[in-house]
Amino acid sequence: MKPQLRGDYSRAGADYVVAQDWARYTSEEHALYRRLFERQSKLVPRYACPEWIEAISRLESAGREIPRFEEVSRPLRAATGWEIVAVPGLIPDDAFFTHLANRRFPVTVWLRRPEEFDYIVEPDVFHDFLGHVPLLFDRVYADHLHEYGKGGLKAMRLDAVKMLARLYWFTIEFGLMRTPLGIRAYGAGLLSSGGELAYCVDDARPRRRPFDLERTMRTEYQIDRYQDTYFIIDSFEQLMRETAPDFTPIYERLRKLPALR
Ligand code: PHE
Ligand code: FE
Repeated sequence: MKPQLRGDYSRAGADYVVAQDWARYTSEEHALYRRLFERQSKLVPRYACPEWIEAISRLESAGREIPRFEEVSRPLRAATGWEIVAVPGLIPDDAFFTHLANRRFPVTVWLRRPEEFDYIVEPDVFHDFLGHVPLLFDRVYADHLHEYGKGGLKAMRLDAVKMLARLYWFTIEFGLMRTPLGIRAYGAGLLSSGGELAYCVDDARPRRRPFDLERTMRTEYQIDRYQDTYFIIDSFEQLMRETAPDFTPIYERLRKLPALR
């Protein structure tokens, strides 16, 4: 495991799953989570996609304290067949893809420190939970992420994980959606960000391109600052449809082409 990762991997099994151990969160951590949630709550009515807003309204306890994963998995299983598993932090590709391919979403157990209120590079429980989990209640998004997980295992065999990871970055993490209300965010990295959530929609500087599968797979990204480029989908159905073809020949073609910025 990469030494710079913060989590405690010593108790993780081969699938990297750990116990959430909810009782170990301190009241300071619950309070910090609540403050993070309250800040996002002011932004999401204007900036989040309707599917996310609809889902969060069904998770009534989501903002009160750090959620108990088991309590959220229950309605999630009923809605779309997904569940949450607790992990120590980022996990290797094969473990990550295997979870998704089995409709299990890995959520980091630890919460950021107070001084990381505005920005954190490694995903924590706030990002993973608030950004990703609500959308798993949406049937199309949920099915898409399942297909992505299977596609990840296939990309490993084809030595194409880098291209597939870029697709994930520009959709699941930083994707925008065109809605009747205007451009909205569905990417988890946007939904959990205090600054980038407004920036990605309102700021004049970044490029906003219509979703283009091959272009996302060729575009390099930065993990430590706001994005230069966002891709806009029309709907999760479109995302599902455009990622459905066999990527094998696409990977073969794209791997010979230069990366884009
Ligand atoms: N269609 C992709 C393939 O053949 C799998 C995939 C589906 C990847 C959905 C991402 C999202 O590899
Ligand atoms: Fe994420």
